[in-house]
Amino acid sequence: MKFFEKNLLAIDIGSSSIKLVEMSGKDEKKLHALGIEILPRGAIEAGLIRDPEAVFKAMKKLLDRLGYKPNKRRVAISISGVSTLIKRVVMTVEEGADPDEAIYEEAKQQFHHNLEDMYFRFQEVPSAFLEEGQKAYILVAAKIEVVEQYVDLMHRLGLKIGITDCDVFCLTNMFDYNYPVADALTIAVNVGASATQVVFMYNGEFLFAREFFLGGNEMSQKIADTLRVDFDNAEALKISASMGDQAIAERVRPAMHELNEQIAVEINTTLTFFQSEEMNGRFEKVDHVFLCGGAAGTLDLSTAISTILKAPVQVINPFQRIDLTPSGVDMDYVLSQGSLFGIGVGLGIREMV
Ligand SMILES: Nc1ncnc2c1ncn2[C@@H]1O[C@H](COP(=O)(O)OP(=O)(O)OP(=O)(O)O)[C@@H](O)[C@H]1O
Ligand SMILES: [Mg+2]
Repeated sequence: MKFFEKNLLAIDIGSSSIKLVEMSGKDEKKLHALGIEILPRGAIEAGLIRDPEAVFKAMKKLLDRLGYKPNKRRVAISISGVSTLIKRVVMTVEEGADPDEAIYEEAKQQFHHNLEDMYFRFQEVPSAFLEEGQKAYILVAAKIEVVEQYVDLMHRLGLKIGITDCDVFCLTNMFDYNYPVADALTIAVNVGASATQVVFMYNGEFLFAREFFLGGNEMSQKIADTLRVDFDNAEALKISASMGDQAIAERVRPAMHELNEQIAVEINTTLTFFQSEEMNGRFEKVDHVFLCGGAAGTLDLSTAISTILKAPVQVINPFQRIDLTPSGVDMDYVLSQGSLFGIGVGLGIREMV
């Protein structure tokens, strides 16, 4: 029992904004605070902090606004992007043999990287897909230099890092907590500003993940180019159209069509690779596609994905099973913009699993 321990603060530092989620509870989570601070464009790119000062200022502003005094407060952060490599592998391990060396060699092969400049961790995981003598492991490697950028940032703010996670595991935990599905192949997709992560799960078991660098930014850029407006205007038009403004939707729909298709095709290519290369044809179809991330509700995106994957697609609410009363957080905001907090919720759930 931790008598004087304060709640962990989950901090998702994305390329367009920083999201903070504070929850309490073990088996049942309760929301205490929610906050978002927009980052200047280019401050973070593909998971790399390009402008540490701008990110520091935005973090500070967010903490001040929510009334937090850092005072070595424990935080959970998540990393993603080009400097993070994740792979689930199945290996045959001799009884009594030490698998560490073999796993390290396997990781070098899988990641096509010598790993010397990376933190490397692995964990054995239970799996429904093993044959006699086999074990499943999740391998994670992250560039030391990049992880240290985030650690330095948190230390400069007076915060203490309790948990470092990866976006794809946050996504897996968040979906599994809110939408547990039995005996079904589920694809969880996080559509952000600069990247999209695709995670394959079966009964909550993480099977495969891929990230590609397309998201809400490209959509806005395409609208800006097509309608000859600046990026901020295009962003506003896109959001209005996605939130139900029919007249604006008619204006931006043609520009968005191609990018929606491109994202759907990327997900479908990933699915085909997963089915044939990763699972040897074990899954013939996908049962559910769940979307979250700020750009999940983009006009016509669900329809494009559903048509190309031939599967039902649902934009989910990361707070589905989280107790929201009385948190002081605006409920309308949670319902309309909740999908922005998918990674943050998954990061906060981490402590109890
Ligand atoms: N209501 C909305 N409809 C459509 N798109 C939206 C809406 N609200 C936000 N977006 C888009 O969502 C994106 C931001 O999503 P998110 O916060 O998940 O990204 P991020 O975490 O900052 O970026 P990344 O994870 O890619 O680094 C932006 O492109 C923004 O335009
Ligand atoms: Mg993100």
